[in-house]
Amino acid sequence: MFETLNPAAPDGILMLMSMFRDDPRAEKIDLGVGVYKDATGKTPVMQAVRKAERRLHETQATKSYLGLAGDTVFNELMIGLLMGDKADRTRLRAAQTPGGTGALRALSDLLRLARPDATVWVPSPTWPNHVPIITASGLTTNIYPYFDAYTNSVDVDAMLDALEQLPAGDVVLLHGCCHNPTGADLAPEHWKTLADLMVRKGLIPLVDIAYQGFGEGLEEDAAGVRILAETVPEMLVAASCSKNFSVYRDRAGAAIILGRNRSEADIAYSQLLGVGRCIWSMPPDHAAACVRIVLHDDDLRANWQAELESVRLRMLSLRNGFAEALRRQSNSERFDFIANQRGMFSRLGLTQTQVMELREKHGVYIVSDSRFNVAGLPGDRLDDLAAKVISIL
Ligand code: LMR
Repeated sequence: MFETLNPAAPDGILMLMSMFRDDPRAEKIDLGVGVYKDATGKTPVMQAVRKAERRLHETQATKSYLGLAGDTVFNELMIGLLMGDKADRTRLRAAQTPGGTGALRALSDLLRLARPDATVWVPSPTWPNHVPIITASGLTTNIYPYFDAYTNSVDVDAMLDALEQLPAGDVVLLHGCCHNPTGADLAPEHWKTLADLMVRKGLIPLVDIAYQGFGEGLEEDAAGVRILAETVPEMLVAASCSKNFSVYRDRAGAAIILGRNRSEADIAYSQLLGVGRCIWSMPPDHAAACVRIVLHDDDLRANWQAELESVRLRMLSLRNGFAEALRRQSNSERFDFIANQRGMFSRLGLTQTQVMELREKHGVYIVSDSRFNVAGLPGDRLDDLAAKVISIL
């Protein structure tokens, strides 16, 4: 039967990982996949997570099943982290998922059950895996304008105009913060306008938030999600712990739903758990248990927040340093936008041919749309890297 299959298209981001690994050049630079790296190029286990792992190892008496929702304390803590203290908990439910991707897939399956004919509108551009995940659930996707490559910022007017035209009941995917791949985010006042528009037009927000704490700060990065939750009757949120707890391979995330009232939230939650039962049955425990230990313990939580803040500040300083180096090397302000954007990614605005040339000539690996991982920038070789970029223009 396998003769009926064609090879799957390779994932553009993950393909770069193996190409980089196979490149023998010592001076090669990996700015591809979105993992945080410290100044030595390592992706460390965060100190608080390491301590939580030790505690878990010493205290965990069984590995018996926890249930469909996973770790329920983790779920409540994730609602708190995302939604803050003032959120109306009676309408919010969360289920632990294998990473943010698991949350996106479970929420897409839930949407398919609730609104099989809805179109899910994704920003242009968006993370390349969004459309495959949503269409794998059997839903239709389409794009709305988001990024203006001329100003290197969000084209708010074009975005809002496009959303005004959508039929009631359609779903709008939004990046909660640190837009991937552009690093261009909505300002708080735009979130309020957007939330009012969603209510007026009867649209449903599906927020993907995978970088909370990497942009303006832990609380600031959740502002958009919280404004929506205070305003709209129903919403869905896919949260990831991969980046902000640095537990990438252990896969922890949460699918959060906001219902119109307690009973509708309960019914939707039962369906969400049923969806998970058909994909992974019960979610993997280890990383979520560590996150629960960290968030539940005042000292570990403070330690985690401080380390996360240092990660955020390091990326900000790399952004500023790279923008300055590019300014020096190009003698222009063309790349100044890099300092103003936020999160792990920005786009250099290069063509695919230039991206290939950068890789082949100089061993600099960035994604084909010219997205680069800010955390991978070599702090001590920024001028050298900037000169390489300028040389292929
Ligand atoms: C990325 O965008 O590089 C990360 O989210 C990793 C991935 O799975 O694509």
